[in-house]
Amino acid sequence: GERKYLIGGNWKSNGTYDENAERIKVFNGLGPIPDNVEVVLCVPYLHIPLCLTSLRDDIEVGGQDCGSNVKDGAYTGEIGAHMLKDIGCTWVIVGHSERREGFGMAGEPEGLCAEKCKVALDKGLKVMFAIGEKKEERESGVTMEVCAKQLEPLAKLLKPEEWANVAIAYEPVWAIGTGLTATPEMAQATHADIRKWMKDNVSEDVAKAIRIQYGGSMKGANAEELLKQPDIDGGLIGGASLKDDFFNVINGVP
Ligand code: G3H
Repeated sequence: GERKYLIGGNWKSNGTYDENAERIKVFNGLGPIPDNVEVVLCVPYLHIPLCLTSLRDDIEVGGQDCGSNVKDGAYTGEIGAHMLKDIGCTWVIVGHSERREGFGMAGEPEGLCAEKCKVALDKGLKVMFAIGEKKEERESGVTMEVCAKQLEPLAKLLKPEEWANVAIAYEPVWAIGTGLTATPEMAQATHADIRKWMKDNVSEDVAKAIRIQYGGSMKGANAEELLKQPDIDGGLIGGASLKDDFFNVINGVP
């Protein structure tokens, strides 16, 4: 298709320095990455410099979140998008469901996720903007309403041309880390709904060009079936990105 596949790995909060150095070594020894795929690995902040200096250079490096601060300042604990950009990251994940949820603390509301995305784009990063419904929401038939609610504040903030640096990571929350993947048909249907929403609410051109990644228990064994769906343009991979199976996902692109 016209859209280049985008495979993101998300290491989440995993790995000592040595363990992740070893993972990098493994990835560096694996085969070539097909021309029609862009690969980016989002690692813990502490391991970003290690990846930037030692990971093969056909894999980009990104953050898993960023602050909403637009510059240096008194924001204890925050890593600003400008810092990720400065050190050499090209991508950042914003709005991952784990951050929206908050780990038992206050999570990140829709408006904040949109704001972070805008700041990251302004600083020159590309963004994987994560959205998705919970199990109860899927079961009560409001999946697209939930996704729309997560996209709306972003659509208000961005000019149409700014979407060129955004990919939407559709991750049904019930499929994350559970081994329960959405069926290819189910994922395709939601991806098509999201693309339609983009057409109706942003523009037809943006809807055609934007990459929509699937996330949620994606692995080598199911990647091909998912990636051959017409509206699935890549993946955001958690657990499987910690292992060499990540390359089976990459090689699962049609
Ligand atoms: O960001 C990645 C997603 O949350 C998917 O995680 O592949 O471990 O289910 P998972």
